[in-house]
Amino acid sequence: MAEYQPLEIDTPVRPPKRRLPSRPIVIGAAVGFVLLILLGSSHEPSRQAVSTGLTKAKEYGSKLNGWAEDFEASYGPQAKGTMRLEEEYALPSREALRQIVGDDPKYLVKDGWATYGYNNGRYMLEATLLMAKIAGRIPVIPDSVWARSCATDAEACEEHALRYFEHRNEHEDVVGAKWNDDGAAYKLGIENFLDIPHLRKTYGSLLTYTEYLHLYSIDPSLYDESLRWNVTNYSPSGLTTATMSEQEFQDRTFVRVDRPARVRSKEEIMADLPHAAGEGGDVPRLSAETVKLALASKPAWSLTAARDALRRRGDDKVADKDELFFWQLEEAGAVLLWTYSDEVLMNKAMARPSNEVALPSSIRPLSTALSSPPYSNASIVYLSGNLHDQRKPGGLYFTSPLSRDSYTRLILSSIRAPPRIRKLGARLAEKMASLVEGRRWVATHLRRGDFVGIAWAPERDPVRHFERTKAALERGKDVLRSHFGDDGRLPRNDDPFYLATDESNGTSLSYFRSRGAVLLSDLLTAQDSSLLGPGHITPTEMSSTSGGAVNGRLAMGKEEWSWGLLGREKAGRVRRWRA
Ligand SMILES: *[C@@H]1O[C@H](CO)[C@@H](O)[C@H](O)[C@H]1NC(C)=O
Ligand SMILES: *[C@@H]1O[C@H](CO)[C@@H](O)[C@H](O)[C@H]1NC(C)=O
Ligand SMILES: *[C@@H]1O[C@H](CO)[C@@H](O)[C@H](O)[C@H]1NC(C)=O
Repeated sequence: MAEYQPLEIDTPVRPPKRRLPSRPIVIGAAVGFVLLILLGSSHEPSRQAVSTGLTKAKEYGSKLNGWAEDFEASYGPQAKGTMRLEEEYALPSREALRQIVGDDPKYLVKDGWATYGYNNGRYMLEATLLMAKIAGRIPVIPDSVWARSCATDAEACEEHALRYFEHRNEHEDVVGAKWNDDGAAYKLGIENFLDIPHLRKTYGSLLTYTEYLHLYSIDPSLYDESLRWNVTNYSPSGLTTATMSEQEFQDRTFVRVDRPARVRSKEEIMADLPHAAGEGGDVPRLSAETVKLALASKPAWSLTAARDALRRRGDDKVADKDELFFWQLEEAGAVLLWTYSDEVLMNKAMARPSNEVALPSSIRPLSTALSSPPYSNASIVYLSGNLHDQRKPGGLYFTSPLSRDSYTRLILSSIRAPPRIRKLGARLAEKMASLVEGRRWVATHLRRGDFVGIAWAPERDPVRHFERTKAALERGKDVLRSHFGDDGRLPRNDDPFYLATDESNGTSLSYFRSRGAVLLSDLLTAQDSSLLGPGHITPTEMSSTSGGAVNGRLAMGKEEWSWGLLGREKAGRVRRWRA
């Protein structure tokens, strides 16, 4: 991947592992929020700011009427670049499903989690796709998402949901876990979030739970709403299951990798030396014994941590240049790992590739485990439990750059929203462009809602939280300036910007608008909403979360530098600058 330029350089810090009672509950969008020391105490928006915000809302409202008239031109039969030719999802017939899976299919399944938003669901299923590829099996993925907010009237949402809870936390017995906060919940098919026909074309065979149950004529009443795989209920006669538990998949004593590392001969490694050393000639060797001792205390090491560990053992020959250090490590018998940096540990954006290192005795290839009994001869391999919390994108490390990069490409090319959602996104972007008269505009995500209640948004105060976000956007504009120079399309100081937020307090929203924010509701006409079809529920939690947005940008070939992480003390928060 191309080099990226971080907007701010900070040492990635693992957010503290949050241990919640009983089942591990990982929180929605997995973007942490930062505690910055801000001066001043919490302050209410001034009356003037609120009034300016209301005026702005009216102004946007009248624009909406104009946009409603443009609707035909944008989406009608004459519209250019229409996506109407693209396939929308429909449940395939049994016969079609039989063709998808072929004779004697072998499956790989992993648990879903009902109380996670789509963003978490997305990276869990991305890891399932990877693990199934490694296993040479057909993945079966959770078929639905529980949305927690409804952008249109509650009745319409309720009517279109596959299932509806008025008080979601009263149904722990059904969904097997609790949400961070109470409120309604609407169960929606995964096809409202994910372009399944496209995924089949680009990835290959896969089934959703619904399709699997349909294919094997399993009684729909046996469906498990927790979205976990249910061995008892989901095993038709003739199919056998081998379960790998969370602890077997991964514990603190080893690092799970995709495939065995290719161990190069001393000759091959030596032949690589001139390349590794560049013009400089010789590279001092590390002692294999020291490397073994230094790296024994944990399974995987970042290059920085490995250098520190070796230096603490008194090794002063450790190279500062990564390429040379790599060579030294390999020569001393360590295994190089390809992964993504801890910056994306929480949001699992397919960005920020990185390297780590391990001892050969610490690695466990998934391909090896699954190619022997009881897994190899089972019809279904079931990886149970939580295989994603605090894990790298893909849920494991790679032993070659090729396999890491092909996973990146796979996800960027195959995971995307359904055609109508992408069309809507393009339309919203056009409207933003018209608001700024064609100049570039910036966008950010301000997660409030449940994150405030559980103290994952350390800025309780919406004004201060917003002002920090806005300050980061201003720095983003500087980055645009440094990349494009003054080409006439740079954002002006008072240009509006797009703000994805689940803040619901009207006073706060007026304040945000008075400071330049344009919200989804300022851009969305009734016709736009109708594009969302029976989904009708705009799951703000998912549409705006950062990892998915970054992946979407990378997939469109947007510049690697065009998004960034904000410096942080406790956790990271992704911001994006739209170029
Ligand atoms: C499978 O689903 C049934 C309900 O149909 C439930 O009673 C059972 O506990 C589930 N099994 C597991 C392992 O969760
Ligand atoms: C798979 O092989 C193991 C070991 O040989 C055996 O115990 C198990 O019953 C086999 N499972 C199936 C489904 O054939
Ligand atoms: C909304 O925020 C304002 C200003 O912070 C506060 O005074 C008001 O009580 C809030 N309203 C609700 C319904 O929470």
